[in-house]
Amino acid sequence: MTDRYAVIGNPIAHTKSPVLHAAFAHQCHQDMSYEAIFGPIGEFRETVEAFRRAGGRGMNVTVPFKVEALALADKLTTRARLAQAVNTLRFDDDGIFGDNTDGIGLVHDIQGRLGFGVEGKRILILGAGGAARGSVLPLAEQRPACLTIVNRTSEKAEALRTQFAEFATLEAGGYGDVAGRCFDLVINATSAGLHGEHLPLPAGLFAPGALAYDMVYGGTETPFLKDARALGAERVSDGLGMLVGQAAESFFLWRGVRPDIGPVLKSLQGG
Ligand code: ATR
Repeated sequence: MTDRYAVIGNPIAHTKSPVLHAAFAHQCHQDMSYEAIFGPIGEFRETVEAFRRAGGRGMNVTVPFKVEALALADKLTTRARLAQAVNTLRFDDDGIFGDNTDGIGLVHDIQGRLGFGVEGKRILILGAGGAARGSVLPLAEQRPACLTIVNRTSEKAEALRTQFAEFATLEAGGYGDVAGRCFDLVINATSAGLHGEHLPLPAGLFAPGALAYDMVYGGTETPFLKDARALGAERVSDGLGMLVGQAAESFFLWRGVRPDIGPVLKSLQGG
């Protein structure tokens, strides 16, 4: 019988997940279906349970339900617990398993597709919201030389440092604190660009050969990537590969096979 999967969100009309998972299923010869489900606000749990009762095997969870999904899961991975958000649910015989594949999707895109090894590198994360929190542990596990987080509200970066103290050594502060320092990898995990706003990036932030990575993606180059180029970043990438990467990791959790993200990303890019 065909195994059923779905993504739940609100809104959900523009999700790329069904296209991604259909491509992975085809590539990996998996007999499965994947649909998009609109989750009414206040009815997340009921909507998930209804899908599970109807034979669903797992779900992706997107805005605004990632925190509710955390509460719904019976078992959590450490990375999901630290991210305080779940984007992948798997319905096992002994309960609901919850994970967060966003951060590992980012790491695979940077190291795999872009061929940029993180070990020993100086990394700077811009922002201290959910997107930043989800990426800290997977990045720290690659043993960078340093992992620094700056945020407009520096207290939130400090709070992340404290929260992760047992798992990773972080430096935290505001944008002014990195003036005069340079990094090999600078990741934008803020939502500033979504509102057309620019970040106060100090001159000299990018080391020779540096990669600027924006978790956001879109049809045109983001404000952060434009600014990064102007400040001398040699390489830039938007977050489309991260989107494909997190989907690939969810697929792996469900099916036990890890698809090749390259061809799927290429088709999304229209190549
Ligand atoms: P997400 O879950 O996508 O990370 P979020 O939790 O709302 O979203 O976090 C948004 C991040 O973007 C925060 O780090 C926010 O900074 P503050 O904590 O100081 O609000 C950052 N951000 C948004 N607009 C920004 C701007 N114009 N300049 C700098 N940082 C900005």
